[in-house]
Amino acid sequence: MTPSPTTTSSPSEDPRAQELSLAGKVAIVTGASRGIGEAIARAFAAHGATVVLSSRTQETLDAVASSINEEQAGVGGGGRALAIACHAGKPDALEALFARVEDELGRIDVLVNNAATNPYFGAAIEAPEWAFDKTVEVNLKGYFLACQLAARRMVARGSGSIINIASILGIKPAPMQVIYAMTKAGVISLTKGLAQELGAKHVRVNAIAPGLIETQFASALIDNESMHRAHLRATPLGRHGQPNEIVGAALYLASEMSSFTTGAVMVCDGGFTA
Ligand SMILES: NC(=O)c1ccc[n+]([C@@H]2O[C@H](COP(=O)([O-])OP(=O)(O)OC[C@H]3O[C@@H](n4cnc5c(N)ncnc54)[C@H](OP(=O)(O)O)[C@@H]3O)[C@@H](O)[C@H]2O)c1
Repeated sequence: MTPSPTTTSSPSEDPRAQELSLAGKVAIVTGASRGIGEAIARAFAAHGATVVLSSRTQETLDAVASSINEEQAGVGGGGRALAIACHAGKPDALEALFARVEDELGRIDVLVNNAATNPYFGAAIEAPEWAFDKTVEVNLKGYFLACQLAARRMVARGSGSIINIASILGIKPAPMQVIYAMTKAGVISLTKGLAQELGAKHVRVNAIAPGLIETQFASALIDNESMHRAHLRATPLGRHGQPNEIVGAALYLASEMSSFTTGAVMVCDGGFTA
């Protein structure tokens, strides 16, 4: 049966829906001083965005921002970077970050919640309470508060894209990382719940679930020969990933190309969860 014609105008008719450009957009990327966050921030600037890099250490962020700005000055693509230090688990620090970005740049179009921690690698029944509190503070409370701060402003403007970096451990937990996996499952739940609340306000909320990616964060696993080998055996592509291999998903979700995508979890794991 042919579907009946609809009079509702569709964003797919908007030519911007075909573009991966982030020109004119302001994006905040937490945990942007290295690893996946840095790779995403570099790619956003290369696609024309003004990117606010955040993590705890101003000095490291300044170095990354300078390198991005030099790179962008060379190509003249309009992208640029600004570095603002912020502890992603501290409510006052997060409020100050978002207020400053709004004051200085006038808008927030994209939030990438990426800064996370995993301070305890061991049996859950032996885990100290401090490790639980610390992991929940940054990975769950921090993500939630940053979503609130971004979404309030995006709702007021009538558009925005929030990207939460989860993990495949949020889909399929693993031993020795139970607390971390719990928080990443929470991030996926946060993403899907907020997507439902904010869809009508034109704010999209999606998650990316990386598999094993070679960063400082994953060094404990990659440096452990037997665990690394076991992981690779269970990965159809037979290798771990690089930070740059998460960038395509982030660019897609930040841009108008993903205008009909919300509440999604994009898995980038070499097939590990297949
Ligand atoms: N690598 C993997 O295999 C993998 C797999 C699945 C998911 N992920 C997720 O990917 C994201 C990025 O991880 P990554 O592998 O790129 O790690 P990474 O290279 O260690 O980078 C972590 C970033 O977060 C910042 N950070 C850490 N704690 C922070 C805090 N309390 N407040 C603000 N910034 C903080 C760090 O800077 P400072 O230390 O200077 O603050 C750094 O910029 C995380 O959400 C992680 O859970 C990673």
